[in-house]
Amino acid sequence: MFNKIIRPRRLRISENMRALVRETNLTAKDFVYPLFVVPGKNVREEIPSMPNCYHLSVENAVELAKKISALGIPAVEIFGLPEYKDEIGSAAWDMNSPVQRAISAIKKAVPELVIVGDVCLCQYTSHGHCGKLCGAYVDNDETLKLLQKVALSQAQAGADIIAPSDMMDGRVAAIRTALDENNFSNVVIMSYAVKYASAFYGPFRDAADSAPQFGDRKQYQMDCANAREALKEVELDIAEGADIIMVKPALAYLDIVGKVKEKINNPVAVYNVSGEYAMVKAAAQNGWIDERRIVLESLTAMKRAGADIIITYHAIDAAQWI
Ligand code: PBG
Repeated sequence: MFNKIIRPRRLRISENMRALVRETNLTAKDFVYPLFVVPGKNVREEIPSMPNCYHLSVENAVELAKKISALGIPAVEIFGLPEYKDEIGSAAWDMNSPVQRAISAIKKAVPELVIVGDVCLCQYTSHGHCGKLCGAYVDNDETLKLLQKVALSQAQAGADIIAPSDMMDGRVAAIRTALDENNFSNVVIMSYAVKYASAFYGPFRDAADSAPQFGDRKQYQMDCANAREALKEVELDIAEGADIIMVKPALAYLDIVGKVKEKINNPVAVYNVSGEYAMVKAAAQNGWIDERRIVLESLTAMKRAGADIIITYHAIDAAQWI
């Protein structure tokens, strides 16, 4: 029965009234911007399936990092294309690879910017899987040894946060041990704890040239049908020493973000992935949606669901729109 006393609409009467009661406020400080670094000099090539995202050579990545920091965005995450690929992805821990060079150059030029290093092997292996193969199976425990090397090389280059995205069991403990044994006990681990085997990574795999050459990633990334398993992954990673827990992708998994947030006291990150970005860009280019409103609404929803940190290709635009 409508009693005419309680009227929620009173609190929506004006922009300032709405501002007073707003539960979630998005800021540039929520964002991490992903950068794709490539070999060579003077490279700035737009990634076709990710409009307004670029393959950058190291010096151009440094220039963009300065701009990102000036916009108030606190962090970048570095992905890279290597100069060579092999069976075990050894370019992933080569100090001369674009990622390691970009990390040290950005740290030097913009020391206050937090640098996240993505630790995985799929951009570096000739077969495109996230670890060392044993037949068609990715060998978990052998891969851990390689991931330790990647994490160490990135920490040595100057990364503040190591973000393992490979989905091997036990990788957080392995990386924590390697970091601690080498005097990097203050380097943070942001674990891609809940990473689903998702079709939303399609454009990234073009961008990073990292699509598996056979099969898919379902032996190590999670089944999109599972929610309780996400909480199990989170529990394990926290026990192994993860500082920040990530859920990926974001939009189709906000129920998982909400559940994780209720369960744990660690900061929660979401990765608003390439496919989510590409869909918005494509629809906006067709004039079918209002890009600015769609982006801010989506990012607000991620924060409302429980994300403390949002890794997003929209970060530069959104920081300017807020
Ligand atoms: C590497 C990695 C992927 C993404 C981030 N790190 C791709 C994958 O797992 O295939 C996806 C990011 C995106 O789609 O924006 N393992």
